[in-house]
Amino acid sequence: MDIKELISKMTLEEKAGLCSGLDFWHTKPVERLGVPAVMVSDGPHGLRKQDEESDHLGINDSIKAVCMPAACATAASFDRELIGHMGEAIGDSCQHEKLSVVLGPAVNIKRSPLCGRNFEYFSEDPYLAGEMSASYINGVQSRNVGTSIKHFAANNQEHRRMSSSSNIDERTLREIYFPAFEISVKKAQPWTVMCSYNRLNGTYASEHPWLLTDVLRKEWGFEGYVMSDWGAVSDRVAGVAAGLDLEMPASGGINDKKIVEAVRAGKLDEALVDQAVERILKINYRYLDNAKPETPWDKEADHEFSAQIAAECMVLLKNEGVLPLCKEDDVAFIGEFAKRPRFQGGGSSHINCFKTTSAMEAIDGLKVTYAQGYSVDKDEATDEMIAEAVAAAKAAKVAVVFAGLPDAYESEGYDRTHMAMPACQNKLIEAVAAANPNTVVVLHNGSPVEMPWLDQVKGVLEAYLGGQAVGQAVVKVLFGDVNPSGRLPETFPVKLSDNPSYLYYGGEGNEADYREGIFVGYRYYDKKDMEVLFPFGYGLSYTTFACSNLRLSASEITDQETLTATVTVTNTGSCAGKTVVQLYVGDKVSTVLRPVRELKGFEKVELAPGEGKDISFVLDKRAFAYWNTELGDWHVETGEFTVEVGQSSRDLEVCGTVTVNSTVKLKKHYTMDSIYMDILEDPKAAQVIKPMLDEMKKAFSSGSDDSTDAAKEAVSEEMNMAMVKYMPLRGAMSFGGGITQEQMDAMLAEMNRD
Ligand code: BGC
Repeated sequence: MDIKELISKMTLEEKAGLCSGLDFWHTKPVERLGVPAVMVSDGPHGLRKQDEESDHLGINDSIKAVCMPAACATAASFDRELIGHMGEAIGDSCQHEKLSVVLGPAVNIKRSPLCGRNFEYFSEDPYLAGEMSASYINGVQSRNVGTSIKHFAANNQEHRRMSSSSNIDERTLREIYFPAFEISVKKAQPWTVMCSYNRLNGTYASEHPWLLTDVLRKEWGFEGYVMSDWGAVSDRVAGVAAGLDLEMPASGGINDKKIVEAVRAGKLDEALVDQAVERILKINYRYLDNAKPETPWDKEADHEFSAQIAAECMVLLKNEGVLPLCKEDDVAFIGEFAKRPRFQGGGSSHINCFKTTSAMEAIDGLKVTYAQGYSVDKDEATDEMIAEAVAAAKAAKVAVVFAGLPDAYESEGYDRTHMAMPACQNKLIEAVAAANPNTVVVLHNGSPVEMPWLDQVKGVLEAYLGGQAVGQAVVKVLFGDVNPSGRLPETFPVKLSDNPSYLYYGGEGNEADYREGIFVGYRYYDKKDMEVLFPFGYGLSYTTFACSNLRLSASEITDQETLTATVTVTNTGSCAGKTVVQLYVGDKVSTVLRPVRELKGFEKVELAPGEGKDISFVLDKRAFAYWNTELGDWHVETGEFTVEVGQSSRDLEVCGTVTVNSTVKLKKHYTMDSIYMDILEDPKAAQVIKPMLDEMKKAFSSGSDDSTDAAKEAVSEEMNMAMVKYMPLRGAMSFGGGITQEQMDAMLAEMNRD
């Protein structure tokens, strides 16, 4: 298909028409030229394909499909291969359903536990989010259907999501809010990118040329088309110029007309319209040329697979010898979630499941009783319900309370206002724990919750929103058929006010200032050395593992070289299991503010009891670099870096050090206002000012002629220097440097010479 030639035959109206949807889910056809429409559909953890009534909030029905675990859960698997296979299954279902693109993955950073859409996002850590996203995209696209990585960019709150401006400095964008997109583009080349609703530093993402063209295409090399989030377009003409190719959904022809008028009035270059059309059609034909509607979609098989994935994602947060449960024991399952699990979130990702399996439906052959405990719909636990639960708990060896956040507590479209679980559930857990010392809590939630009862229970299993087969997975993990191996993709703070964005989250009116900067999640808690409920990367197993013998391929490298870190991980317990080996890098001394450590590598490893394996990580410049705004590039400051390896961000068993030498010389420019401290750090400049500085020191230490000896002694040489270092160069003219303006100018010229 010669797309350029095809476009040359189109009228301006036809081309402008192609820049917006036909309806809610289709691109427009050009029947005259035989260009067909194609369909896109939500995503991301299954299909929400609407054949009839359409909406973007999950209100109207969609076809029966399979709801896989949401991103909050899949991120916890730390398993690239697994999420890649999940992508393949979703890709196959797209082929079967004749969908060109599935709208996902959603990779926004979990800045605050309050974001209503956290359940759909992977992590507080950009590297983890990027790696999981790239694997998912590669999985889906291996089936010749596209993905739409979303929401680009900085869409971290639902509050005022269509008007709020995320105000973020460039370094923070580059280090925290961009990398998940950047990694995905570079490693997986998503067919499409969906821009976000919000504004970024004042400009709507849908009309942001720096975002959509300079960074996304020119820097990262994105080749597909950019579509708008549903209804995210404000100024369509500005959008075309900025690089927004497709407006979704249709705008009733209004914006298409504006494009035509702008071209006719000479305000928009027609070549930009051609370019948008070319990008859209290239992707549409990539799908059309490879469409395989005969691809089978075995929903039963996907249901089973979804149970397997869910089991790999569960995070065992606490276990005082109570788990795994013994299959012969009497166990009470308490809480309505045991019968009606919460396994997905509300909004555009909401799937119409062809079937679900609750924990109570998965207990075949086990001695399990049930008590409702609380009502999800009424959000209450009556005295009767609690009494029944307590009786069931007393009669059992172990009581398992299924708890978490009901649908209304977290959803697309609005944020949470607190981090608490429903009071009725907390009350129930406390009553059950008082009745049975062997109480375990299973949690269904998309984001951290407070756990006021943590000390009263023996076990906690974080199941997140694990998809339609979550009940099956929970039972497998509780009874030890699957050894839990999930790790937290986010920190659970003790309380909401500990979160770094607490003071600013949501913003003032439409201005949301990201004042905590790069200190998001564990980057903040570690810098503050703060107690947390559960740290990033944390999770237990029914066996134990140890990391040992860290070997670095060099003790010194340049920023152009790579470093290989190899560690031995051993299963030191008595059953087979998986752990996640995590590698963090930290700059020991830095002139810019940096986190103590940042995740730069992870690997999920399966080991038989007693078995050991060597795991290697290759670290390149980016692993050591920060974003230098003056350079407009990544920069490594020469110096020592820690390389820590372990099984959580707070369980780093082995540590090494490497010196990295920068090959980039930062250009310094000195003026009369440069201060001595900065000049003295630069050996060449320090040499230039040395004679003058010696004069000044003399003047300082001799004091005035009539100062007493005591006064002179009180000010030591060190104190003098401590005071001088913050002085600007021009101070030499007032404080005894014995220097003229001409001499000063000559010195500056010398200091600034290359
Ligand atoms: C959401 C997107 C979704 C789209 C289509 C929007 O409201 O933000 O994530 O893909 O609707 O349903």
